[in-house]
Amino acid sequence: MSQVCEVATKTQNTALNETQKAVLSGLSTQQKTLEPKYFYDQLGSQLFEKITKTPEYYPTRTERSILSKNAHAIAKACGKDNIVIEPGCGSCEKIRLLLNELHPSLYVPMDISGEFLAASAARLAQEYPWLKIQPVTDDFSHGRIIPMDLPSGQRTVFYPGSTIGNMTPHQAKKFLTELRQELAVGDALLLGVDLIKSEAVLNAAYNDKEGVTEQFNLNILNHINALTGSDFLVENFKHYAFYNASLQRIEMHLESLCDHKVRLAGQEIEFSQKETIHTENSYKYSLDSIRAMAEDAGFRCQQSWADEEQLFCVSLLTSVED
Ligand code: AVJ
Repeated sequence: MSQVCEVATKTQNTALNETQKAVLSGLSTQQKTLEPKYFYDQLGSQLFEKITKTPEYYPTRTERSILSKNAHAIAKACGKDNIVIEPGCGSCEKIRLLLNELHPSLYVPMDISGEFLAASAARLAQEYPWLKIQPVTDDFSHGRIIPMDLPSGQRTVFYPGSTIGNMTPHQAKKFLTELRQELAVGDALLLGVDLIKSEAVLNAAYNDKEGVTEQFNLNILNHINALTGSDFLVENFKHYAFYNASLQRIEMHLESLCDHKVRLAGQEIEFSQKETIHTENSYKYSLDSIRAMAEDAGFRCQQSWADEEQLFCVSLLTSVED
């Protein structure tokens, strides 16, 4: 190899950015993995919205119905005029179902996308002129979940959508324990969790007939290409999602259709036919396992609201003395 080439290679290697390093490391293990956060480029977010409207994907509509049906009881149990904090609020859609009953003294929507957050907060402010809103752009990298500079007063943290399901039970416990440390005794966490149910219903929810979940899963490769300059070919992979009953989680994978190589930041990643990239876990809980997880982390499960079919539940966890 010529000297010029060597220099070029070195420059490329030292120029590896954090994303390239993180992605490469996930693709260098025995079971290749990509973190689910990479689903959400602009198209990915739109595809997720579309998933929530498929007939098979019950969580979003079920949670919305639980929240609207029980808004009064939820507000009564959380306490009104609290500071309501919502990490990962997105479009601030779900809090609308509670606002009139909860009547927070301050609403703190938090998201990574500052521009998107500002637009969501502006729309909310128009619809709820009485509501004080303090948007916080955050990337969860300061070692804290909720911001420091909030006025005093009782806090209600709103964490809907079974977002906690993306964490392993170990990570979920750690997340709740850290959150507990940032709260005072009596502060609350209103948590949306997907429940364990028949495998047929679970499998259908992640394998919708229209193929939206398939597109959503495959699109992660386009996003990775855009982020890292890799050359993944979407047509070399197929969507594969199934309920892993022993681990109580849906697993999403992308299965390689042939032996092939992908280049990423000057490195070659080899795929053999049938090998998969694990792209997401979505853990399912029971009312008992939610209660146990809460207690492990210094909360008490005060009350839970579920739909008639027990598909989904919203639990109110209050922080207790340690
Ligand atoms: C947004 C993580 C709750 O796990 O059900 C939907 C994402 N993935 N279909 C979920 C998702 C495939 C969703 N969460």
